[in-house]
Amino acid sequence: MQLQLSTWPEVEAYLARSKAIIIPIGSTEQHGPNGLLGTDALCPEIISRRVGDEAGILVGPTFNVGQAQHHMSFAGTITLRPSTMIAAMLDWAQSLTRHGFERIYWLNGHGGNIATITAAFSEMYHGITFDRAGSNHPPLRCMLRNWWEVPGVMDVCRQLFPVGEGSHATPSEVSVTWFGYPEAVKSVAMTPRIAPNGPILDADDYRRRFPDGRIGSDPSQAIIEAGEKIVAAAVKGVIGDFKQFAAS
Ligand code: NI
Repeated sequence: MQLQLSTWPEVEAYLARSKAIIIPIGSTEQHGPNGLLGTDALCPEIISRRVGDEAGILVGPTFNVGQAQHHMSFAGTITLRPSTMIAAMLDWAQSLTRHGFERIYWLNGHGGNIATITAAFSEMYHGITFDRAGSNHPPLRCMLRNWWEVPGVMDVCRQLFPVGEGSHATPSEVSVTWFGYPEAVKSVAMTPRIAPNGPILDADDYRRRFPDGRIGSDPSQAIIEAGEKIVAAAVKGVIGDFKQFAAS
């Protein structure tokens, strides 16, 4: 069940049985020679939509631009300042709480977003603490879950790609996007086969250290069938995780 494909009476009816919603959150940033710019937003979106269909859970629109400053030396990347992202997340959350939502499960696709998402939660809770004095507003609770840390997912990824998983433009995440969008599969040879590892500093330094955008990975191993297995594991994990959170 997707918010943008629902009518307001349908959302009102959903609220009568659940006060919890999933928001996929990610980034629009380079993902190496064969990875889509939308990878970090598409992965949580593909997983969330399956969760929504299988478990009747409401899935909101994808918050699809995040913290990608260090990828700005590659064409197509779009980034937000941390303060912009916090302000936008706050507005999304306040809109949802205005309608009666009390639990927002943010399924994240980008490690670089974690610090800012956590800061946004602090900002939301700060507001609630001071706004609530003397009122009967129900408290909002948010949860951050990175899709690759959903129970059961990492084991499947390690099994599928024991070598060359790396940390950016990984064969796992590329496989998930190809499973969702088979028309976007690309065949690109990787040189070197496994990308270098190293620290992430600013945008120009990133391109010097990681010339094709990958970190430690060999995404030429990506295949649709692997994406299907990863998504299946993630969907199962998120449904359990979400239900527990919704009932908390
Ligand atoms: Ni990624």
